[in-house]
Amino acid sequence: MRKAFLLAALFALLLATSVAAEELGASSAKFWSVPQVDALPYDAHSRLIRHGRDLITATYSHIGPDMPDPAQRYAGNNLACGNCHLDAGVKKFGLPIFGLSEDFPAYSARVGAQITLQERINSCMTRSMNGRPLPVSSAPMRAIVAYIQFLSSGVRKGEKLSGLGAGTMPELDRAADPARGRDIYQARCIGCHNVDGAGVQNSLPGLGAGYAFPPLWGSDSFNDGAGMAWLITAANFIHSNMPDGVDYLHPRLSPEEAWDVAALMISKPRPNRPGVEKDFPDLLQKPIDAPYGPYADGFSEAQHKYGPYGPIRAKLKEIEKQMGEVKNPNVK
Ligand code: HEC
Ligand code: HEC
Repeated sequence: MRKAFLLAALFALLLATSVAAEELGASSAKFWSVPQVDALPYDAHSRLIRHGRDLITATYSHIGPDMPDPAQRYAGNNLACGNCHLDAGVKKFGLPIFGLSEDFPAYSARVGAQITLQERINSCMTRSMNGRPLPVSSAPMRAIVAYIQFLSSGVRKGEKLSGLGAGTMPELDRAADPARGRDIYQARCIGCHNVDGAGVQNSLPGLGAGYAFPPLWGSDSFNDGAGMAWLITAANFIHSNMPDGVDYLHPRLSPEEAWDVAALMISKPRPNRPGVEKDFPDLLQKPIDAPYGPYADGFSEAQHKYGPYGPIRAKLKEIEKQMGEVKNPNVK
C-alpha cells in the first residue's frame, strides 16, 4: 500500500518535471531572447533606436501620407511596418527583421545586384508602403537602421536563425481558389479586416493615426509589387499569424484555408506599381509566385499567381538541366 503511494508520488513528480520541461521547450521554440529596447539608457544613440522602433510600430504618425509637412510624407499608405513585421519585427515567422543587419549587403535577385540594408528598407517603402524612398542620410532612415542593427546585436555573422520569414507550408496540388477564400474571409477575417478588406482606422480618415486593423486590399493597401501580394508569402504569413494572436506553433487555419483566403486577398484591386516587369533581370531567379510576367517557363500569369506550382517547378528544373548541358567549346 505504502509502496504504491510512493510510486504514485514519484510518478506525479516525474510528470510535473516533464511538463515543465516541455513548456520551457515550447516557449524557447516560440520566443527569441531579443535585446530589450526599454532597458537602454537615455543617451543619443538609444534615443535613435527607440525612435526607430516607433517608426516601425507607428510609421503613419512619422512619415505617413497625412503628415502636416509634405516633405515628411514618404509612405503612400497608412500602414505601419509593424502591421506585417509583427511585434515590432521580432515575432518568429511574423516576417521578423531581427538579426539581419549582418546579412546585408546581400545579393537581390529582384535587382540583379548587391543591395544595402537601406535599399532593402526602401524596397518596402516603395512597395509595401506604396511610397517613395527615404534618403539614406535622412533621420527616419538612420533611426530604422539603428533599430534593426540593435536587434541584431549578439547575432553572429552567418548564423542562421530559425524563425525568419513567414514559414513554409506544404503546397496545394490545385490552384488556390479565391471563391473558396471568400467564405473563409467571411467566417474568419471580416470581423477585424472589415467589409471590402478596408480595415478599421484608429481615427477619422485624414488624421494620420493608422489602423487598429489594417486594410488587406484597396487604395490604402500595399501595391502589387509588394511581397505580401504574392501567394506563397501571403498564405504562409496568414497561416502562421492570423487571425491576429496565433503563432506558428498554434495555427488556427488549415493550410488549405490559408492558401484559399490568401488567393482571395491577392485577387482584389490594389495600387499598381509601374515598371514591375523589369524586376528580376534573370528570369530563372524569379520567384515562382511572382504575379506579373515575363517568365522563363511559358506558364500563364494566372498559374504563377495561384498555382499549382508542381508543373512549373518541373519545367524550370528541365530548363536548368538543359542549360547545364551547354558545352563550353574552349574546354577540351
Ligand atoms: C504589407 C506588408 C509589409 C509592410 C507594411 C512592410 N513590409 Fe517589409 N517585408 C515584407 C515582406 C513580405 C518581406 C519579404 C520577406 C522575405 O523575403 O521573406 C519584407 C522584407 C523586409 C526586410 C528584409 C527582411 C529580410 O529577411 O531580409 C526589411 C529590412 C523590411 N522588410 C523592412 C520594412 C520596413 C522598415 C517597413 C516600413 C517602412 C516595412 N518593411 C513594411 C512585408 C512588409
Ligand atoms: C482579431 C482580429 C483579426 C482577425 C480575425 C484577423 N486579423 Fe489580420 N491582422 C490583424 C491585425 C491587428 C493586424 C496587424 C498586426 C499588427 O499590427 O500587430 C493584421 C494584419 C494582417 C495582415 C498584414 C497587414 C496587411 O495590412 O496586409 C494580413 C495579410 C492579414 N492580417 C490577413 C488576415 C486574414 C486573411 C485573416 C482571416 C483568416 C485575418 N487577417 C484575420 C487583426 C486580425
